[in-house]
Amino acid sequence: MPSQLLSLFSPIKVGDMKLEHRVALAPLTRSRSPGFVANALNALYYSQRATKGGLLISEGTCIDPYSNGYANVPFIFTKEHAEGWALSTEAVHAKGGYIYAQLWHVGRLSQASFQPDNQPPVSSSATSVRENRPPARALNIAEIQETVKSYANAAILAINDAHFDGVEIHAAHGYLVEQFLNSNSNLRTDVYGGSIENRARFLFEVLDAVVAAVPASKVAIRISPDCNMQGVKDDDPKALYTYVLQRLNDYNLAYIQLTEPLWGAWVQGPPHDQSKLVQYRPLLKNPLTKVMLTGGYTRDSAESAVETGRADLIGFGRDFITNPDLVSRLERNLPIAQDKDVVSGHYSGGKEKYTDYPTWEEEQAAKYYLTREV
Ligand SMILES: Cc1cc2nc3c(=O)[nH]c(=O)nc-3n(C[C@H](O)[C@H](O)[C@H](O)COP(=O)(O)O)c2cc1C
Repeated sequence: MPSQLLSLFSPIKVGDMKLEHRVALAPLTRSRSPGFVANALNALYYSQRATKGGLLISEGTCIDPYSNGYANVPFIFTKEHAEGWALSTEAVHAKGGYIYAQLWHVGRLSQASFQPDNQPPVSSSATSVRENRPPARALNIAEIQETVKSYANAAILAINDAHFDGVEIHAAHGYLVEQFLNSNSNLRTDVYGGSIENRARFLFEVLDAVVAAVPASKVAIRISPDCNMQGVKDDDPKALYTYVLQRLNDYNLAYIQLTEPLWGAWVQGPPHDQSKLVQYRPLLKNPLTKVMLTGGYTRDSAESAVETGRADLIGFGRDFITNPDLVSRLERNLPIAQDKDVVSGHYSGGKEKYTDYPTWEEEQAAKYYLTREV
């Protein structure tokens, strides 16, 4: 049989999932979970973006009481949190879709007001993301072990109680795992600091604990190699991320999501086929672990990344906010709706700029009624 050209709409097996296309909802914090419990409005938002055989990744969901730094974000460390999330997973499954939970610990990006007893946030070391913020407190070894356990507990709750199809460990964007990885935020002199192997120890302990708790075929990870986001920076990023990505080959994970340094108009960079990720991509050699690229993708650049084999899956963020039917618009080559004011709705609360973006059909119907003579 002649080999077929891969496209965004070729099916693919990812972990235990049989995906019918390669367009994924990238994790997007939307701050619509007052009381830190995912709710029915969140379920509506995810179900609007669900497609048969399509993968959604939840917004970052916090794994223990020390892991949060933002208002109205959903947690996943008690049964009540899991029950809240079950509304979303049920709604997505009802449409034949899949959904992973992104496990999140923000570390030093938190502030005392979000911490138990108004204490300073925790991190790998006593550093601060900004000069005008008081420094975080360095976790001691026993606390690091507890935090590792919290990731496993969250993974078990996500899969067994909230019925997610898998979990994605957030090891990107300057949050806690990256605070351990990078040399400017990890000043430790014990086994979690110093050499690359030591700085990566926390990440691999988290991964080991999670894959011991749930099958590796339901586990994924997000990494942002050399992106220097939210204050982290490494002395030798190539050596650091080469080490990390090579070791990830040993885990039979469902997928690895790599953040593109390019975020469209927000963060400038060279085109995707010349991005820093191009040098790291060949390091990922495990055929069971699919590769998702996310950041600044359009229909054409996504198609090209899949066709050329740079990516198995493409994550879409902002376009999926303004186009609940993004998958269908991409498939039918329809215009992608833009909202110049989308940023004001990112974290604003309520259904506005959350569940009220129309599908293509709704947009056309509204135009039709507006232009009809009455
Ligand atoms: C409002 C907003 C919230 C985000 N929240 C998260 C998050 O919770 N976890 C995460 O890994 N990335 C998060 N991101 C990054 C996105 O997953 C994605 O990488 C980014 O939007 C670039 O992709 P895009 O160009 O398709 O929008 C967020 C981005 C935006 C715009």
